[in-house]
Amino acid sequence: MIVIGLMSGTSADGVDVAICDIRGHPGDMRVELLCGAAFAYEREMRERILASCDPKSSRVHQIADLHVDLASVFADCTIAALDQAGMSAGQVDLIGSHGQTLWHNVLPSGQVNVSFQVVEAAVLAERTGITAISNFRARDIAAGGQGAPLTSFVDWLLLRHPTHWRAVQNIGGMGNVTFLPPLSDEASAPIAFDTGPGNALLDIAVTQISRGAMTYDRDSHYARQGRVNEEWLEALLGHPYYERDYPKTTGRETFGTAAALSLISEARSRGLENAEIIATLTALTASNIADAYRRFAPAPIREVILGGGGRHNPVMVGMLSELLAPANVLTHEDIGMDSDFKEALVFAVLAYETWHNRPATLPVLTGARRASVLGSITPGANYVDLLRSTWL
Ligand SMILES: Nc1ncnc2c1ncn2[C@@H]1O[C@H](COP(=O)(O)OP(=O)(O)O)[C@@H](O)[C@H]1O
Ligand SMILES: [Mg+2]
Repeated sequence: MIVIGLMSGTSADGVDVAICDIRGHPGDMRVELLCGAAFAYEREMRERILASCDPKSSRVHQIADLHVDLASVFADCTIAALDQAGMSAGQVDLIGSHGQTLWHNVLPSGQVNVSFQVVEAAVLAERTGITAISNFRARDIAAGGQGAPLTSFVDWLLLRHPTHWRAVQNIGGMGNVTFLPPLSDEASAPIAFDTGPGNALLDIAVTQISRGAMTYDRDSHYARQGRVNEEWLEALLGHPYYERDYPKTTGRETFGTAAALSLISEARSRGLENAEIIATLTALTASNIADAYRRFAPAPIREVILGGGGRHNPVMVGMLSELLAPANVLTHEDIGMDSDFKEALVFAVLAYETWHNRPATLPVLTGARRASVLGSITPGANYVDLLRSTWL
């Protein structure tokens, strides 16, 4: 099947499109990335998304507009990616669209009662003619799970090592990890959770410090000019999220704009300079990840497979490699997968599983009572043909 995965993460930096050829079934699945394309948001769209994520600035009519306007952007990106690939929409069977998370609500108990994504799938189906699957998190939450991390199921399907434990670490707006037992170990289960803030606090801090000239610390521009303030770092690592037991997930509600702005004023009152603030927030991400491994890894981790935009931040990756030694820090490329389009590819695989009426979570990963078939299906012009070729 040809399936397109569409992803915009908590960084709200842009849309990633993965056009995939997927065959087989769990246990014997082959996923080939035919084409990956990334489209950065225009500044105004990013600001609308970030404003809608913050209860102080969000307005219901603006969220409603965003729901359809962002869907148009997703549709444009899909069409542009097909164009880049020299393909037509008629060759595609399915779209799996994550949409854009605006609110992932973690209750004081640690349970998630709702994870709210916009991007109206009807617009995708209408504009492309392709059947679209969206709203992947809701069913797992209805079954008592966190609705996240969803990537970990695909890590479990595709990325286990024959003989040793691996950690698959994504560093997007938030960080999330999957600890994967080796294929030779049939008794152990994988573990997954959000490690905490990845780039989200950093991005806001850089935007603020550069007065909007930069929206992230490109190639560690600031971090490499400053020293880590160990005292502040230690205080930051005292956040109660880090010691909470898994399954656990987080988002911009806890580590977003409001938190970043208050951290900047805290840093200033401690007398930190700009580059020190950024260096310390960079260290916070590397340290909260290493901390999570120390606390929760069920076995010695031999390999860490890094993905997400954070792996382009050399200072962050350097710190992480040092903290995680002797584990070998690799990228997805080292094991034959594309790092930049991994998450978009994941949503293609999840859509493929849903279309085949197979559950695409493991209760052990999300904390749900049972494994669910995920998502909502919006029929496109190809719907009946698709039904016939798969099911009838
Ligand atoms: N060259 C780079 N240098 C430093 N950070 C980078 C670089 N490229 C990307 N990033 C970081 O990665 C983030 C995007 O990561 P991504 O994996 O797309 O996150 P999400 O899944 O949350 O959208 C950016 O906001 C930025 O913080
Ligand atoms: Mg992104």
